[in-house]
Order: sequence, then C-alpha cells, then structure tokens
Amino acid sequence: MQVITSSKEMQQYALQKRAEGKSIGFVPTMGFLHEGHAGLMREAKKTTEVNIVSVFVNPTQFGPNEDFETYPRDFDHDLDLVKEERMDVLFFPEVDEIYSETDMIELHVTNRTEVLCGSRRPGHFDGVVTVLTKLFHLTQPNVVYFGMKDAQQVAVVEGLIHTFHFPIEVKRVQTIREEDGLAKSSRNVRLTEAERREAPIIYELLRWGRTLIESGHLSIETAEKEIKQRLSEGLKLGKIDYLQILSYPELLPVHDPNGELILAVAVFYQNARLIDNIIFDVKGR
Ligand code: PAJ
Repeated sequence: MQVITSSKEMQQYALQKRAEGKSIGFVPTMGFLHEGHAGLMREAKKTTEVNIVSVFVNPTQFGPNEDFETYPRDFDHDLDLVKEERMDVLFFPEVDEIYSETDMIELHVTNRTEVLCGSRRPGHFDGVVTVLTKLFHLTQPNVVYFGMKDAQQVAVVEGLIHTFHFPIEVKRVQTIREEDGLAKSSRNVRLTEAERREAPIIYELLRWGRTLIESGHLSIETAEKEIKQRLSEGLKLGKIDYLQILSYPELLPVHDPNGELILAVAVFYQNARLIDNIIFDVKGR
C-alpha cells in the first residue's frame, strides 16, 4: 500500500495504471474511517483492479458555523484500516494540493438540493461536487463507491456524473450499521452515553415508517406526520431536524407513490447531527 500526498503524483500514478489497461476503483472519504468506509473498500476490492481511497476533510463543503476545524481526524488509525483492507493507494493531500488561489470556477448544484440536508446546509453539495470533480480527475476512476447512508449525496453525485458525462460508474453501497441498528458515522463518537443509547430508535422508526407506508392505508402526507410524531415522542434527548418522504433519486414530493421512495431523517444531539434513511419500492402498493 502506497501513501500519496501530491496531486500531481496521484494523477501520474492513475494515468499510468489506466495506460496499463487496469480498471481503477475510487473511494472518497473524509477520514476517521470506520466499518462503513471499510464496506466501500471491500466492494471496491471485489470489483476493480487498482483501488484508491482518499482521506481529505474538504473545507468547501462545510458551512461557516459547521465543524470543519473540529471534524474528527486520526491519520494513523486511517492508515491501519486502509492497509488492513488491502487498498493500493491512500491519497492524503493537504488543502493546498486540492485548492489553489488561482482556481477560477465554482460548481453549483441546481437540482436535488432544495430538500433534506441540502436545504439545511446551503452550499454543502456545491462543495461536494467541486471536490469530487477535482478528485475524479486526479484518480481517473472507472468505478466510484458511495454509501447510501448519505443517499442525497449519491443522488447528487449521479447528477454530477450525468451532467458532465464523466465516464464513471457509481456503485451504491448499503449502509453499514452497529448491532443495534445505528448507522455507523464518524460523528457517533460525539454522542454522550445516554444519547448513544437513545439513537438506535431512529432506524427503528424508519423501519416502522416503511411498513406503515407500504401498508398503503395512509396518504404519504399523513404517513409522514405520523412517523414524525412517533419519532419525536420517542426522542427524549434528540430533536428532529427534518423527516421527509420523497421520490428517489429525484428527491421530489410524492403524491401518487409508485417506484422508489426515500424516508429520510436528521436528528440533532448536543454535539452531533445524525442522518439516516431507508429506501424502498412501493410499486403496486
Ligand atoms: P465521509 O462522510 O467520510 O463518507 C465517505 C463515504 O463513506 C461516503 O460515500 C459515505 O456515504 C460512506 N459512509 C459513511 N458512513 C457509512 C455507513 N455507515 N455505511 C456505508 N457507507 C458509509 O461523504 C463524505 O465523506 C464526503 O462528502 C466526500 C464524498 C468524501 C466528499 O468530500
């Protein structure tokens, strides 16, 4: 396993591998790696010949009052995990390897971002697509791996690839969870013990909500209200930021459900905001 910190070197390495006819897999991350990230790496190992993981806490996707400075970081731990997963390259650039004062173009996402996290974090997805465009050019992937825990991010990345005709395939990887159902996240370390005990209720309620919607007895609007009500009653420490039912991956309001739906939620705890979702097909409900 090789650690590369220079953008130029990263791109030369990737172009060389492509010239040799190798398929490249790429797993972008912000580090503080856990089993969720490992799931993406395992999927990559199964599919592509040369596999690259990046660890880069991207400043442009954090809002002014968000946690860029305090986002958890642990390079030695990340290095161990990437080695364990037998990836070929860990790309670990400094900010000035990715962004330069002479940059002159910014990307702006015009669809799929008015809802869920996009509505709560203005500019967040602009930062995500900007950094991914840069990272895709540096790593030259055939296939990129993204986790469905961040389902809106997947929908936006698919939009990025479609819009700019990137010759890249997106692999959606299912959410990896703790035994009690809580979605693994780098931010879970910020929960107090009591919050950590409460948090599995989020996924419990998502599953309950899915059954409620699938039963077809209620309109989507009423089901959404019901699920929100149940969750807010169950949360003693957390507070709901949003809970929404939308079409997936379009992320549009649903009136006459038919096809894939997402039930997505965000919950505030004292020092962490947790997100989770469940996606299911209601064709012929
Ligand atoms: P980060 O939050 O580190 O996540 C990196 C990837 O890991 C994302 O695709 C995310 O969906 C996936 N992931 C995180 N937790 C997961 C879990 N429990 N199960 C499955 N996959 C999980 O997402 C980002 O970084 C950044 O926005 C990035 C794409 C790197 C751009 O900066």
